[in-house]
Amino acid sequence: KKRIGILTSGGDCPGLNATIRGVAKACYEKFGEDVQIVGIEDGYYGLINNMCKEMKQSDFSGILTTGGTIFGTKRTPFKKMQVIEEDNVDKVKAMKETYKKQKLDCLLTLGGNGTHKTANLLSTEGLNVIGLPKTIDNDIWGTSVTFGFHTAVDTATDVIDRLHSTANSHGRILVAEIMGNKAGWLTLYSGIAGGADMIVIPEIPYDIEKLAAACEKRESKGFSILAVAEGAFDKEEAKLKKKERARLRAEQGLTTATPRIAKQIEELTGRETRVCVPGHMLRGGSPSAYDRVLATKFGVHAAELIAADKYGYAVAMINEVVSENPLSEVAGKTKFVPADHQLVKTAKALGVAFGD
Ligand code: F6P
Repeated sequence: KKRIGILTSGGDCPGLNATIRGVAKACYEKFGEDVQIVGIEDGYYGLINNMCKEMKQSDFSGILTTGGTIFGTKRTPFKKMQVIEEDNVDKVKAMKETYKKQKLDCLLTLGGNGTHKTANLLSTEGLNVIGLPKTIDNDIWGTSVTFGFHTAVDTATDVIDRLHSTANSHGRILVAEIMGNKAGWLTLYSGIAGGADMIVIPEIPYDIEKLAAACEKRESKGFSILAVAEGAFDKEEAKLKKKERARLRAEQGLTTATPRIAKQIEELTGRETRVCVPGHMLRGGSPSAYDRVLATKFGVHAAELIAADKYGYAVAMINEVVSENPLSEVAGKTKFVPADHQLVKTAKALGVAFGD
């Protein structure tokens, strides 16, 4: 029997179960009785600690529409993989041992940038690994889209939609802080879909005076909506090294720029300003139809790679075709929004201010 290990690692997102189901169903179709899927609990932590379960075909029924992950997930940062800490565990060795103990023929890792880094490490250590691109941040290098992203765009858009009526009723400025880690994809897409008046993303450092001026330009409308990425920073911060920026933020008691943006805009415009942080709501819920289809396509492609014994790859959408990139090319990179991206130009053409 072909034994296929599957784990989900890092922050969850809608579409993980749809992808797992896609892999499983396609494998049962291809290999029939000759396949055994082994679910690994809590990501790499479960691989390190041999937390594995032989799955039944029926375990994959009814999960297409569910949020989260049936296997559970944990953040096990790449940095921690390579060091033998106080616990004295050689994690790479432990993961290889579990792979051997479970007699796995291959390992599928569903995750984001950190997950792909570890997947690449395991691949260079001789394991047969395939990565699948999961994240609401859409920041995995080499794929135009990740599963989970479009569901989060839908949810964030709904948040921004709902801010319009209350901002209008009260004549306020409302600042929505949108997840996305260091990239601005989620904010850019939902900002456009939700009709935000200003979009602030890390790839385009902002000038607070310009954002305030854009709010003032809208004075006749009586309200403004800002979509601000959690990773955003201003032009002064952009000049600093990452560590220095983090130190100054900590001194100001800030984890994100959003509260500061709201305070400064209120001071500069004299208009009441409020902040809305949907946070992890953006990671929850049932995957959208788009993500169910995407996740299924990615899952089926992973099964095809297994059938072809093609390992050391990360599944990807390349020029609208499901394909793959070598894990070694994906690992350690981040896909940011180019400052001249078509969607940035589209938004600017509508008069949306980026504060640049
Ligand atoms: O990577 C997904 C993500 O939701 C980011 O957008 C966010 O920065 C981070 O995870 C939050 O992480 P945690 O769930 O560990 O708080």
